[in-house]
Amino acid sequence: MAMKIVLVAGARPNFMKIAPLFWEMNQLPSVFQSIILHTGQHYDYEMSKVFFEDLDLPEPHYCLGVGSGTHAEQTGKIMIEFERAIQNVHANLVIVFGDVNSTLACSVTAKKLFIPVAHVEAGLRSFDMTMPEEINRKVTDAISDILFPPSRDGNENLVREGVERNKIHLVGNIMIDSLVTILKRINPSDEDRVFQKFGLKRNHFVLVTLHRPSNVDDKNNLRKIMHFLNHLSLRIPVIFPVHPRTKKNINGLDTNYAVNGNFKIVEPLRYKEFITLEKYPRFVVTDSGGIQEETTYLNIPCLTLRPNTERPVTITEGTNELVTYENIEEKIDLILSGNWKQGKLPELWDGKTAQRIVNTLKRMEL
Ligand code: UD1
Repeated sequence: MAMKIVLVAGARPNFMKIAPLFWEMNQLPSVFQSIILHTGQHYDYEMSKVFFEDLDLPEPHYCLGVGSGTHAEQTGKIMIEFERAIQNVHANLVIVFGDVNSTLACSVTAKKLFIPVAHVEAGLRSFDMTMPEEINRKVTDAISDILFPPSRDGNENLVREGVERNKIHLVGNIMIDSLVTILKRINPSDEDRVFQKFGLKRNHFVLVTLHRPSNVDDKNNLRKIMHFLNHLSLRIPVIFPVHPRTKKNINGLDTNYAVNGNFKIVEPLRYKEFITLEKYPRFVVTDSGGIQEETTYLNIPCLTLRPNTERPVTITEGTNELVTYENIEEKIDLILSGNWKQGKLPELWDGKTAQRIVNTLKRMEL
């Protein structure tokens, strides 16, 4: 009988991690029956459904529709709804991805029902317990049965925290699998359409994404960032697809930043459009985890507006650097004068991570 495997999707960055694994398992129907469960943590069309479309994923088999709330409300609702849904599934394994609240809620709930749990993107650590994601990562890793780190630092963190070595399988970065696939699907006319739509030229713009509470929930910080980007756009066009959390907070600032046509504040982009833009900026400013990884793969300079990162290989091997409000301008000057490091690809970031996960699971009796 095929193993029943539940893939837990919750928030935007989960969807591109699920897709490669879903398709890889689908090729082996006698071994795996994969079931997509969407908690509904992200629910807007642009934050969820467009990703299912661009990644060719079917409608989720289960939708819990939990929506937003405080951390406790959201995590609690996911646990209650997930427990109810999973009772009828008789799953052999629940696979959770990344570090969002859905990852934590579903891993804890499954374990208490004696269902084995695998964590894809295990072992990453920012060592910053003020980040909700760090708490989610540590709890999920501590109780998971199978851990799939994306890079060697992940293995080391897990071993240091006392996880048995035989539970840890270094498989590489699954987000890169989706990136490799979508890059093949973007053709020059798609690209032209995107650049026309936004009135941009290849290699002459800056791509910005910011949504971390530390940058966007604090009014003073957000105001500083918006002034800075507005000023930057006088030098080089800036495009800023705005996450709902950020949008709400920008609206609360009472300043209309879109008066300068070179500062393009737009809705969240669909995956294919975003990756099209991400191939060609002079540099990226972000606080996202996934974008630090994608820019390393694409060899695009990345300035991460955070005091730390759980993805250190993007700095030691890739094109990423951490920046502050104080030194970002200096770093931008370096990039614009052509003085930025060339990255190299981290180990196993080759588009074959899903294959390695499937090969590992095939060998296990679940
Ligand atoms: C979540 C993840 C974060 C991830 C990010 C990617 C946690 C703790 N955080 O943060 O790690 O990097 O997703 O986007 O899990 N909202 C909408 N529509 C949506 C979703 C959210 O309007 O589809 C609004 C709601 O007002 C909500 C706010 O955005 O309160 C924040 O959403 P939430 O899921 O709580 O956290 P994110 O900031 O998206």
